[in-house]
Amino acid sequence: MYALPFLDLPPLSAADGRVRLPGSKSISNRVLLLAGLSAGTTRIHDLLDSDDTRVMLQALRALGCGVSGADGVVEVTGLGGTLAVREAQLFLGNAGTAMRPLCAALAVLAATQGGRFELSGVARMHERPIGDLVDALRRLGCHIDDLGRPGYPPLRLHGTAGGVLALQRPIRVRGDVSSQFLTALLLALPLVAQAAPVTIEVEGELISKPYIEITLNMLARFGIAVQREGFERFTIPAGSSYRTPGDVHVEGDASSASYFVALGAIAAHAGRCIRIEGVGSESVQGDIRFVEAARAMGAQVDSGPNWLEVRRGQWPLRALSLDCNHIPDAAMTLAVMALYANGPTRLTNIASWRVKETDRIAAMAAELRKLGAQVLEGADFIEVTPPVRWQPAAVRTYDDHRMAMCLSLAAFNPLAPTPGRTPVRIGDPACVAKTFPDYFEALFGLVQADAADVPVIAIDGPSASGKGTLAGELARRLGYLQLDSGAIYRAAGVAAERAGVDLDDGASVAEVANRMALRFDGERVLIDGQDLTEAVRSERGGLLASRVSVHPAVRTALHALQLSFRRAPGLVADGRDMGTVVFPDATLKVFLTASSAQRAQRRQAQLEARGIEARIEDLRSDLEARDLRDSTRSAAPLKPAEDALALDNSGLDIAASVDLVLQWWARRRPF
Ligand code: DC
Repeated sequence: MYALPFLDLPPLSAADGRVRLPGSKSISNRVLLLAGLSAGTTRIHDLLDSDDTRVMLQALRALGCGVSGADGVVEVTGLGGTLAVREAQLFLGNAGTAMRPLCAALAVLAATQGGRFELSGVARMHERPIGDLVDALRRLGCHIDDLGRPGYPPLRLHGTAGGVLALQRPIRVRGDVSSQFLTALLLALPLVAQAAPVTIEVEGELISKPYIEITLNMLARFGIAVQREGFERFTIPAGSSYRTPGDVHVEGDASSASYFVALGAIAAHAGRCIRIEGVGSESVQGDIRFVEAARAMGAQVDSGPNWLEVRRGQWPLRALSLDCNHIPDAAMTLAVMALYANGPTRLTNIASWRVKETDRIAAMAAELRKLGAQVLEGADFIEVTPPVRWQPAAVRTYDDHRMAMCLSLAAFNPLAPTPGRTPVRIGDPACVAKTFPDYFEALFGLVQADAADVPVIAIDGPSASGKGTLAGELARRLGYLQLDSGAIYRAAGVAAERAGVDLDDGASVAEVANRMALRFDGERVLIDGQDLTEAVRSERGGLLASRVSVHPAVRTALHALQLSFRRAPGLVADGRDMGTVVFPDATLKVFLTASSAQRAQRRQAQLEARGIEARIEDLRSDLEARDLRDSTRSAAPLKPAEDALALDNSGLDIAASVDLVLQWWARRRPF
């Protein structure tokens, strides 16, 4: 996950490959609650691991449910309908799928068995309405106190044992604000439908109907066969009690699939294809119907029971006007696909966007405008016209995972009908953790960019000047890849020595360098499958590198390998010739130096930390000899690039150096 203040996406030009989706949020949290209410143990496979499911799991633990997990299977041992804990304070983050159903379930349990529960969340959760559900529960006889603004969390639910609920008459609930109110009652009332059936009637036009289908489907799996008349009247049969089905498999998240369907429609051109695994034609999730909307805009989608394959069809995409009531979450993705359409796209009947993680109509309108799009918005619609001129934009994400994932697709602006060539800065990328913690990793695994569009920071300088530490920290702070080119030369030296070739014979060493299969796995270096980290990182490794790196043939052999590190979202490369030879077009070049006395001291401290003793005088003369060899060799000698910024860090600690380079970097960015 990218836990950064922002993540810059370079202009992207194509996408190809396969992605496995994380589990559905809606199914995961329903299954967790049902497992928590059932008797016995439920083994949940492919459960989504995200912020929203984590708060639900914590709540279940606090309520006395058994929760354990291994090998991707989470086991929940439920309460069997009887409260094990009578008092708890539950923090539910910004998870509507936890807040609403837990509110209903705990309200009816507290009212009949006795108890006192407080439910709260983040500030935004306290702005998301729950009053219609609370009203329905109060009419039933539940005791619910508003602890803040009436009609919004936080709430206190309480009652004494032996309380009786008014279940004889139909329970009425509004359906036109959030379908989660009805879902909450459907999940809670089987707990009290023993003696007689319980009926729920929906007031107003029910929105987001497909989510109710998921609820009914999950209820059926846990032994409750709800009878219904359309979407107006639902009856829970008498004698209902939750029974665990034992094992439950959670399908991939259809809303999350929408970003990759859009990705395929926009960027899988010229024979490319995006294959999405985990959700397909047999999905029970309403957002799978996003596929129809994407097809209407021009996507070419093939499907199987639990997979989708998407290719670009019509291009530019077809502008359309669409009622999106049936796909409220995935419809946000259409608003971004609209950037690539042949005219204005209007999405209607989306009033529920305004009460989600943020006011999504306002948020989407504001951010798409920053990119250069023309946007009209109303109480329940949004209309997007593609940019005539794309603007480099630092977009806000409003602590809304879907804003972040949607807006990432704007980075394909080089493909737009009126093409752009501009990076997109995504604020607070870690907000995707709500439903898809590894979204950006998955995205970067599929996308292609023109090398010239991928930003590079080149850090060159002599041995032990602190390049590696600086580069590593910059890469971490920007979410970029890192190339330690010294390690590549070290690996070539080690491989050549192990192969027994003469290190002064450039052609033979180059042959070894060409053949070796080099892999970096975090800090570890594997050559031909063998872990040779120690040999590569040792002082001797450095000496071998210094010897083999003088040969032009060796440098040529390692050139393409180094270029291959230049991938989205960006690269920080350190070495001797990053700015002069390998990445002459680097966005920022830094030439890092420190006095040889300073460098010898740092190297000694480094070695000491690894339990190796060395005399400072020896280290200093080694370093000076190596400087001389690196800077006087004819092939790519160590020297600052003409346009490099010099940084003598003799008197700076690492944090100060990093801050300085980040300031230089900020000045080179267009935001
Ligand atoms: O930075 P280092 O100590 O890991 O580098 C080891 C040797 O590799 C160094 O003496 C010179 C060589 N090298 C090079 O020639 N070009 C690079 N880009 C990086 C390292």
